[in-house]
Amino acid sequence: MKSKFIMMVICLLSFSLSALVQAGNKDMKALKKEAVSIVKKFGGTLKPQLKKALKSGGPVKAIDVCSKTAPEIAQKLSSETGWTVKRVSLKPRNSKTAGPDAWERKVLRQFDERQTKGELAKKMAYAEIVDGRFRFMKAQGVEQVCMNCHAGKVAPATEKALKHHYPDDKARGYSLGQIRGAFSLSKDL
Ligand code: HEC
Repeated sequence: MKSKFIMMVICLLSFSLSALVQAGNKDMKALKKEAVSIVKKFGGTLKPQLKKALKSGGPVKAIDVCSKTAPEIAQKLSSETGWTVKRVSLKPRNSKTAGPDAWERKVLRQFDERQTKGELAKKMAYAEIVDGRFRFMKAQGVEQVCMNCHAGKVAPATEKALKHHYPDDKARGYSLGQIRGAFSLSKDL
């Protein structure tokens, strides 16, 4: 009789535990989806503006545009969505906004490792719950257009504009396919 009761309790417990895990997975999935849509908005707003500025005024104008627009978009998305929205890098250009915290640094290093092993930046993302916060990072890989401003060697006018806006710029020396940085999003649960 007693063992039957214990069995029942164990059954009930494991059932509610698996329901809890399933609910957790479902939440993770929904949160990831929300994060991805914010990242798409960020990239989908910034990249066309960058390309337009590049076309109309070359890298110097595009740097001017990017230095204002990128932080603005991040801020606007943060206040609109209630998420913290940033871009970070192991070699930041904007030292005020793009320096990674310990968790972001760990994930960026993992992205570098994954890229070295052949994974494409396009598909690279990572999500984890850390201290009651849902955290999400999506890698940004270096494409041809990025080389204008993130390669080792850039046009002299670009060099000058970068020095002017970002005297402690570290975001140089990249080659195609490498991880330039990542969108980093988080939200209190
Ligand atoms: C016209 C020059 C230019 C081009 C082209 C360019 N960037 Fe940047 N990038 C910048 C500037 C300027 C910043 C700093 C923006 C800021 O102040 O937030 C920056 C910042 C970044 C950051 C944020 C982290 C940091 O280091 O501050 C990432 C990530 C990034 N760029 C990735 C890319 C990728 C990927 C491409 C190609 C798709 C690209 N960039 C093309 C000029 C450029």
